[in-house]
Formats: sequence, structure tokens, C-alpha cells
Amino acid sequence: MSTAAPLRVIQISDFHLKTQPGSRLWGVDVDASLNAVLERIQTRHPQPDFVLATGDLVGDDPEAYDRVRQVLEPLKTPVYCLPGNHDFPAIMSRMLRDGRVRRERHVVAGGWQFVLLDSSFPGVPDGHLAYGELTLLDTVLAIHPELHTMVCLHHNPVPSQTPWLDTMTVSNGDALLAVLDRYPQVRAVVWGHIHAEFADLRNSVHLLAAPATCVQFKPRTPEPQVDDQPPGYRWFELHADGALQTGVERIEPVVRSNGLTRRISA
Ligand SMILES: [Fe+2]
Repeated sequence: MSTAAPLRVIQISDFHLKTQPGSRLWGVDVDASLNAVLERIQTRHPQPDFVLATGDLVGDDPEAYDRVRQVLEPLKTPVYCLPGNHDFPAIMSRMLRDGRVRRERHVVAGGWQFVLLDSSFPGVPDGHLAYGELTLLDTVLAIHPELHTMVCLHHNPVPSQTPWLDTMTVSNGDALLAVLDRYPQVRAVVWGHIHAEFADLRNSVHLLAAPATCVQFKPRTPEPQVDDQPPGYRWFELHADGALQTGVERIEPVVRSNGLTRRISA
């Protein structure tokens, strides 16, 4: 591992924000929950080099991107966004065109490159990588063999072992893996969507998902089931020699009773 300071990157995912604050998803106040996660980031991982926001930034509400920007601006660091199945890619690109919180496709920093793909497909929750997305990835990998690479997208390209979610994986995940297999500089593929933590290794490539900033889903259930795990985020330390350290950090556990939510100490 190199001795230079590593690149510090935070992944947040699946805010499901609406135009009006306080909307709930499976009983969780998505604003309160996101704010608590952002507070945790500022306490535990202050001053990251940048943040990756891996989709479902809004919850089927095309007017809510202004709120996404407002809520994330206080992080005072670039937030690079990509769309999920509850987003509107064209509107996201227009509303988050510039500024600190913005849609991005390709980022180079600290000997690494980050490729932000769009796996959403209009009108359905399923994931799919269009020809143009796979071509973008292939092209930047071919141009930059010297850069360690993290591929970012919303949907899981491999099964998550949760049957109801695995009806919505990237339908052509094999095509993505075939591209990755041609380039040894690929170090990680990261996604959101499953509202749960996930970590695996494939041919020395890390396969990683971040928990949602709102409701969590229990893994390995045939039908959607809310998990008592608190919301959270994933952190990365990325070294110039390609070494990668990562972990998931969550807010304090919550207890729900009579429709009320209160925080308890760990
Ligand atoms: Fe989501």
C-alpha cells in the first residue's frame, strides 16, 4: 500500500426525496433519515474528496431535484450523481447540470477513475445498460489502462440473493462483466438499489452495495420486508497503488412504536 494520503470517497444512495419534505417510504421519513446520515458523515468522515450518489435521488418526483441539491450542498464537497429507477435521467441532467451537486459520467482523481453509468430503463424498475453505456465504459477503460477503476451504477449487476429484488437486476449484467474481464485495472463495481449492504469479490474485483439513506430491506426474503437495520452509507479509502479499503457506517438504531420513531443509543 502506498504511503500517500488515500482518496476518501463516500457513497450514499436511494434518498427517494419528494418535493415536500417529510414524505415517508415504508414508514421511514426520507428527509429526517437522509439528514441523519449526512450528519453522521460530517461527524465520522468529514472532508471526503467527493461523494458518489448512486441513484433514486428522488422518489418518482421530477420536481424534487432542487431539494436534492439544497440538502447535499452543506456537505461542501462535490457530489457526483447518477440515476436510478425512480429518477428522471434527462431532468436530472438538466437540473443538476453544474455546481457542486451534479450529474457526472467520468471522474479522474488520485490515480483512479470513476465511471458513472445509467442502468435505468424508461417506465420499468428493471436495470439495463444501453449500448452507449457499455461503450462509454469500454472506451474509458481502453484509454486509461493506468488508472485504477471504480464502476458505479444504480442496479445490481449480479444477483443480490433477495428474490423480489433480483427480478430487477441489470438484465444484461453479463455484458457488463464481459467488459470488466478485459481490463485488469478494474478494482470495484458499486451500486445502490437493494437498500442493503452487500459485499463480494469476483476475479479480485470488489462487488459492493451501499445501504439506502432511508428504509432498509431484509436480504434473502421472497417478498419485500423492512429491515430494522438503521440507514447508512459506505466509505472508501482508495490508494494510488490500487489498494481499496471500505466499510459501511450506519446512524444510531431506531425503535418504532405506535407509529412514532425515536432514536436510542447504541
Ligand atoms: Fe431505491
